Amino acid sequence: MKTKRFNLAIVIVIAVLFSFCTVTKNNKANTSLQKAYQGKFLIGTALNANQIEEKEPHAAKLIPRQFNAATPENIMKSEIIHPAWDRYDFDLADKLIAYGKKYDIKINAHNLIWHSQLPVYVKAIKSADSLRTFFENHITTVASRYDGKVYSWDVVNEALNEDGTLRNSIFLQKLGPDYIVEAFRLAQKAAPNTQLYYNDYNIEEPKKRDGAIALIKKIQAAGVRIDGVGIQGHWRADRIPLKNIEESILEFSKLGIKVMFTELDLSVLPNPWDSNTADVSAKAENIAALNPYPNGLPDSVQAVFTKGYTDLFKLFLKHQDAISRVTFWGVNDTQSWLNDWPVNGRTNYPLLFDRNFNPKEAYYQIIKMTKQKQ
Ligand code: G3I
Repeated sequence: MKTKRFNLAIVIVIAVLFSFCTVTKNNKANTSLQKAYQGKFLIGTALNANQIEEKEPHAAKLIPRQFNAATPENIMKSEIIHPAWDRYDFDLADKLIAYGKKYDIKINAHNLIWHSQLPVYVKAIKSADSLRTFFENHITTVASRYDGKVYSWDVVNEALNEDGTLRNSIFLQKLGPDYIVEAFRLAQKAAPNTQLYYNDYNIEEPKKRDGAIALIKKIQAAGVRIDGVGIQGHWRADRIPLKNIEESILEFSKLGIKVMFTELDLSVLPNPWDSNTADVSAKAENIAALNPYPNGLPDSVQAVFTKGYTDLFKLFLKHQDAISRVTFWGVNDTQSWLNDWPVNGRTNYPLLFDRNFNPKEAYYQIIKMTKQKQ
């Protein structure tokens, strides 16, 4: 009996030591993405509330080592930061500013104007006047509070349809097509010391890209400042539109603005649809065929994933003069929105750090290529 208990104790000790070694492997590694890319472009991540409050010990160690830029994944969206007409909740955003200062991480604030994750009272607005009041107060109050404290703002997010026309959002309906120029004008006044960006998904695709270029030119023609454009980068690992991405880097930088990849992740799961949308309202039912790797990724798929990231970063390095930041949409696979979109409860593997915070082969490859001659 005593021997059995002793054996059991030994097994438990070994298991605990093994799991400790697994999750701390990265913390022992002396490599750093942001250091490898120093002088080329910033390397960012999206942070959730727990990470901002340093509640996850492994993430708390990993983030400042690997990243020198961060975007709040949700906490600066209007639904959270401006929950009632005359009430703002700056608690977590203030903590994020302090976090950035503590670790010398540049904060890209996300976002001022977006049709999604709007506060309930805004969705219910009927009159154009009321919406304009919200629009002006929101931009002015939030942007001026963080002027110079955040490095940049995604001033307007996802205003375009796939064909390059303006999305039929509440802002377009009630304020008219000039609302985007107006948003930048208000942001410029409230935040003279902060970079101002337009951010969207699929704007590497020719039609939507043309729409984005027209939008940027319209802002510039109005004499209003726009400093950069964010291509989100929610792609499938086996279907990255490299040619379109390269053309977009060249075309956008011709406008005299910075180009960023702002929400990068590479899905390895089947897509319920043919299109490559990142529209958060698109949802499909969870069936087994759509969740093929609940217990781990086969080597063959991992290889496709590694190739996807290496191809992309090769391109990013080639155009490093035009690119100012590449931000991953999350720290590790557990956090990724792609576990629940467009199908709830799947197991996806889109980021460079796995569920135990260990770096994947893709991580080592994209560090290695910074040391090779381009
Ligand atoms: O905070 C509530 C919580 O109180 C509630 O219990 C829980 C139940 O569902 O929901 C929580 O809110 C969730 C929120 O994330 C915070 O975790 C929402 O349901 C969920 O829809 C929301 O998803 C976010 C999504 O934007 C919503 O628009 C994702 O985390 C976030 O990664 C995603 O980010 C967007 C970018 O802002 C813009 N580009 C596309 C990108 C991916 O969709």
